Amino acid sequence: MTSFWHPFADQAAVAAGGELVIDRGEGVHVWDEAGRRYLDATAGLWFCNAGYGRQEIADAAAAQLARMPHYSCFGDFANRPVLDLAERLAALAPVPGTVSFFTSGGSDAVDTAVKLVRRWWQETGHSERSLIAVRRNAYHGMHVAGTSLSGIPANRQGYGELLESVVQVPWDSADALAAALDEAGPAAEAEVRALLDEPQLRPFARVWLVQQGLEDPRSLDRDSAALLMAESLGSILDQDGPDGLLEYLGQLGPPAEQADVLGDLWRAATPRAAELLGVVARAHPSAQVAKAARKAAFKLRTTTRR
Ligand SMILES: Cc1ncc(COP(=O)(O)O)c(C=O)c1O
Repeated sequence: MTSFWHPFADQAAVAAGGELVIDRGEGVHVWDEAGRRYLDATAGLWFCNAGYGRQEIADAAAAQLARMPHYSCFGDFANRPVLDLAERLAALAPVPGTVSFFTSGGSDAVDTAVKLVRRWWQETGHSERSLIAVRRNAYHGMHVAGTSLSGIPANRQGYGELLESVVQVPWDSADALAAALDEAGPAAEAEVRALLDEPQLRPFARVWLVQQGLEDPRSLDRDSAALLMAESLGSILDQDGPDGLLEYLGQLGPPAEQADVLGDLWRAATPRAAELLGVVARAHPSAQVAKAARKAAFKLRTTTRR
């Protein structure tokens, strides 16, 4: 056993089994000290995966190290490589006017990003906006902010209190994210308002704002209401099948009311509308409702949507 403390390791197991000392690399392969060759399938895990033995990288690093390894960029100090790299990144970035803040790695970058976001809201008079939603299983590094944001329990546990105002949601559930936003209440308003610019999400954002008392309910136009209804009925169809859908429609009210709801579905900008109307037209026990669905399906087929 050496005096080296291995990251992400059971130190006792390493001590019992010994270390695998990797000695050199070329392209996608590495060799251990005994001369055995391995394919590096982890592609330079934790480091830059540019391949091994790249002479041009070694030459550039050697030249720079000889000239000057680095110089602090505090205040107005700069050095040429840092300026060149920032220019190159700005030219590649999709956002005009991009500036780069360089860090020592991913964990450092995540900590810096969390600080920047919080600072932004403090400076713009919204210090209440501190909640960060993270996904279960997420990995964001091992510094303090990244540890606080980790969705991997083993990476978070055992450190006492970490960063406050972090809410974790299942990685694959938009509903859970919506529930987290509900809990955040008006603090989430700006995020939800930003969704008003996305046609498919607009009605959901409107409903959320109405529920929070942040928007006039009359602003929910008929197209948006129809899209919401189509998505809701669609998820009932997915979960409970055609019978479940018909049962749910039955609970909406007498046939005339059901016909009203379905009669508007042609306005919904989603392929779900045609599917739903087809099911209702075929299977609804009320001739009035089935007819309304057929009419709406016809309108859907013959209307050119914007
Ligand atoms: C999303 C994300 N954040 C942070 C990190 C941490 O990066 P580093 O190991 O350079 O600290 C990683 C590394 O895999 C990552 O994938």
